[in-house]
Amino acid sequence: MQHLMSPLDLSVEELDKLLTLANDIERNPQKYAHACEGKKLATCFYEPSTRTRLSFEAAMLNLGGSVLGFSTADSSSAAKGESVSDTIRVISCYADICAMRHPKEGAPLVASEKSTIPVINAGDGGHQHPTQTLTDLLTIRSLKGRLDNLTIGLCGDLKFGRTVHSLIHALIRYPNIQFVLISPEELRVPSYIREDVLRKNHVPFQEVERLEDAIGELDILYMTRVQRERFFNEDDYVRMKDFYILNKKKMALAKEDMIVMHPLPRVNEISVDVDDDPRAAYFRQAQYGVYVRMALILTLLEVNIC
Ligand code: NCD
Repeated sequence: MQHLMSPLDLSVEELDKLLTLANDIERNPQKYAHACEGKKLATCFYEPSTRTRLSFEAAMLNLGGSVLGFSTADSSSAAKGESVSDTIRVISCYADICAMRHPKEGAPLVASEKSTIPVINAGDGGHQHPTQTLTDLLTIRSLKGRLDNLTIGLCGDLKFGRTVHSLIHALIRYPNIQFVLISPEELRVPSYIREDVLRKNHVPFQEVERLEDAIGELDILYMTRVQRERFFNEDDYVRMKDFYILNKKKMALAKEDMIVMHPLPRVNEISVDVDDDPRAAYFRQAQYGVYVRMALILTLLEVNIC
């Protein structure tokens, strides 16, 4: 039985297979409409979510399966003090697969150790968000036609943004990837990412503060929200929250074929006047999230459709 805690739980070959399956699902949804009949997905969300939870649920429903779960910690027995280990032992009796989001780093991993069904990390604190990374890789591969030879700008809250941490881990496995890390000094990537992931693997990167200085050289601009819920102090959040606002004027400095991605939700970091730009890919990205989660459920449940 396989769980998904980090994008590195899948080899590059397994990832490639999964993304190809997601593209086939996109082209032939009917072929998969009954693939998970009789199977249940539990969504255990101890932290707010719109896209991740609903795209998981949509994915299972599209496969003909059913869903159950909770969307806040207060509406589960966590409010009574139950541990995730006990909760997952019980959920294992009710469902065939579980997607779990938790504010504490490592909580889904702890759950997976006691689980008898596959557990998917749907975001653990400021740590990892592997299914957002699968979504991002599918978006990049589908829209740019490759996962290698890319200059990727990651902009915003690189300290607390778990989607950024997972995406860096996943992308460094492809040839000729370069990063431009665009953030204010206080929101730079954690040092374990800079030293143990980037430097140790000899991945070229630059750290800059101004988006205008970097945007012209990028193939992909990945914008992120300042993660208010992870700040210790509201004043720091208020100071940082509007540090970057991507607008039409800045888009004029970008390459014609650059794409703009964002895991969403956006707050102010992308002005709505960018939405109509053909390079804005963030709503298409959300759609790819459903196909890739369908592919992941099929893979972890070992359902084969010929
Ligand atoms: C992201 C998350 O939860 O980390 N959202 C998502 O899953 N699409 C990004 C965010 O909340 O800023």
